[in-house]
Amino acid sequence: MINADRLWKNLLDIGEIGKNPDGGITRLAFTKEDRQAIKMVEALMKEAGLAVHEDEVGNLIGRKEGEDSNAPAVLIGSHLDSVFNGGIFDGSLGVLAGIEVLQSMKENGISTKHPIEVYVFRDEEGCRFNFSLLGSRGMSGTLKLENLEYRDNEGISLAEAMKSCGMNPKEFFKASRRPDEIKAYLELHVEQGKVLECENLQVGVVTGIASSLRLMVTVTGKADHAGATPMNLRFDALAAAAQIIGVVEKETRATKSAVGTVGQIHAYPGGINIIPGRVEFTVDLRDVSIKVAQQLEKSILSQAEDICTQRGLKLEVDFLQRVPPAPCSPEIIDTIAESCRELGIKELHLPSGAGHDAMQVVNLCPIGMIFVRSQNGISHHPAEWSTPEDCTAGAKVLYQTVLKLAE
Ligand code: GLV
Ligand code: MN
Ligand code: MN
Repeated sequence: MINADRLWKNLLDIGEIGKNPDGGITRLAFTKEDRQAIKMVEALMKEAGLAVHEDEVGNLIGRKEGEDSNAPAVLIGSHLDSVFNGGIFDGSLGVLAGIEVLQSMKENGISTKHPIEVYVFRDEEGCRFNFSLLGSRGMSGTLKLENLEYRDNEGISLAEAMKSCGMNPKEFFKASRRPDEIKAYLELHVEQGKVLECENLQVGVVTGIASSLRLMVTVTGKADHAGATPMNLRFDALAAAAQIIGVVEKETRATKSAVGTVGQIHAYPGGINIIPGRVEFTVDLRDVSIKVAQQLEKSILSQAEDICTQRGLKLEVDFLQRVPPAPCSPEIIDTIAESCRELGIKELHLPSGAGHDAMQVVNLCPIGMIFVRSQNGISHHPAEWSTPEDCTAGAKVLYQTVLKLAE
């Protein structure tokens, strides 16, 4: 059905690109490493007999024609970019398994009524520009020109990074697809959590993906002398930020289901003997229920406002992104579950706390996701791991499901 050894070899090979001394990978979007990984995958797509092109936001697309080339295509997708020092499975597994499905179909002379396309979405992680799902936003028509003004830590804008890869960012809208061109979207991904491991199962069927809210919070006080300023006369931005971060944790915990993270913080001017006059920090909030997510956001922001008012500080909140939860299609969930049964693989239905390109593609067509067990539930970390057997099981379920959807 699929060549397990080939899939595993490709995974390890691509895991060498952007590898750090501790075994993690840093393959940020629109960098040399990102381009190298895309080049390698382009060659694999061509070997699998796909017609390959790159769209206006940098997505790499490989298409296998169907017997009816006017029929809407079945899409398989994921990403090749990584977070800072991430693992080798996040994204790459889905891309390589998608190509493996088509390579195997070619070798076995299998054709389908519907065309099949493999999408390598550009900049899924949004780690470099704090703005995720770029490629899938472009493809699903939700990207806006102003989004391309986001800047990385070196001050390079997304538009500039795209230009450095030979793209014309003003043409981003040409990457969008029409709903009538696409029948369904499928993505295979590592779970990145512990649910499957706890249940001793290889494969999960995703029921839906949690919302994603990303904020940049700026607290402005007054920089002053750390020795000469009494405690009651300070306007310490970092002390206020610490209090707000405590609120993020406390309020998120209280919901039982949501997750909240402060992953970046910068204090200015950053001297050991200077009271911080300004602090910027990010907040990442997620929940599968939009109601819970909205209530949580409201409660955190109103308490943050109170903290700053009481301390005589200024609070500014920039909404970097807001993506609603994405439910998976009940029909595709059933089709994936049926594929599992046919393969003798016991599956579990579970939601995804992590974000995926499917959250944008859902604006165009029904989506479905297959999860593969993650060892110790670790991800966005060099220790991210899934066994060859589990990756193979997931790829087989993908194969079977693609055939059902595209026949
Ligand atoms: C990407 O993996 C995310 O969920 O942030
Ligand atoms: Mn991913
Ligand atoms: Mn990720």
